[in-house]
Amino acid sequence: MRKIGVLTSGGDAPGMNAAIRAVVRKAIYHGMEVIGFRRGYHGLMEGEFDLLRLGSVADIIHRGGTILLTARAPEFIELAGRQRAVKVIRESGIDALVVIGGDGSFRGALELENLGVCTVGVPGTIDNDIACTDYTIGFDTAVNNVTDAVNKVRDTATSHERVYVIEVMGRSAGYIALAAGLAGGAESILVPEIPFDLDEVMERLRRGVKRGKLHSIILVAEGAASAISVAEALKSHTHMDVRVTILGHVQRGGTPTAFDRMLASRLGAAAVDLLRSGCHGQMLGFLNGQVQGIPFEKALAQQKSFPKDLYQLATILAI
Ligand code: F6P
Repeated sequence: MRKIGVLTSGGDAPGMNAAIRAVVRKAIYHGMEVIGFRRGYHGLMEGEFDLLRLGSVADIIHRGGTILLTARAPEFIELAGRQRAVKVIRESGIDALVVIGGDGSFRGALELENLGVCTVGVPGTIDNDIACTDYTIGFDTAVNNVTDAVNKVRDTATSHERVYVIEVMGRSAGYIALAAGLAGGAESILVPEIPFDLDEVMERLRRGVKRGKLHSIILVAEGAASAISVAEALKSHTHMDVRVTILGHVQRGGTPTAFDRMLASRLGAAAVDLLRSGCHGQMLGFLNGQVQGIPFEKALAQQKSFPKDLYQLATILAI
């Protein structure tokens, strides 16, 4: 293993820069060369890359986003696109590729592996929806961003005695909503993994008002419902003053938390170790406090189990 490539793909996640830094510095430490492809698989197909030196990754550990840029590359889904990428890989002389991204990016990495390219995945997505890892890079920062926003909305919600329905990201998963809902003391949390009943949500609101609550926060995962439709239903069945806040991409930005920086540093460095040991076709996971390599097929075939106990706890504590 003399030369490796690295790219970030899919939605950016805070901590991706720390992962790039770890890959580059660990590889250089072991005498390897690293090139960085720009705009994910798009840059891989187009041959857009730069040599990454120690200084190329200086002063980025604390920065959100990704210095390599990222993209969603529909052409890569086609075999012709992947074959173009393989040609670029062969011509650039790299022995392996580190893909930092989410499950869609790992499916792409597995396809490359099947075309004879050694690939390793580092899970980076705010959604935390990848099986075989307790955490993905960016999730902790997104949860902190949302919790911070909930705190702020709560101030104005209390002053005006309002109900706020706050919509958060997560694609088809409810991990961000659950974690931020528990940390932010939301009255109700709506996630796609657990069926919900709006009558019950309204009953909880009424009970809260009866015992003197001045505000209520309902956290809705985008994969469960739209905050606008939830708010409309609440408005038409109660006399409460209901407002909607859709947090959007603000959740994905900003400086990564120390947890995300540490996770990214460990997983990025472990990706290089995995390749040095001759293993590939795997992603790195952080399971029960340990960094482990898991075959792409295994991780992609599994549905991550949703922590229903935490959901129940959040419901009990918001009584
Ligand atoms: O996968 C990360 C994510 O932020 C999801 O939570 C969200 O549904 C999606 O990306 C948004 O994608 P885009 O930035 O392309 O609008």
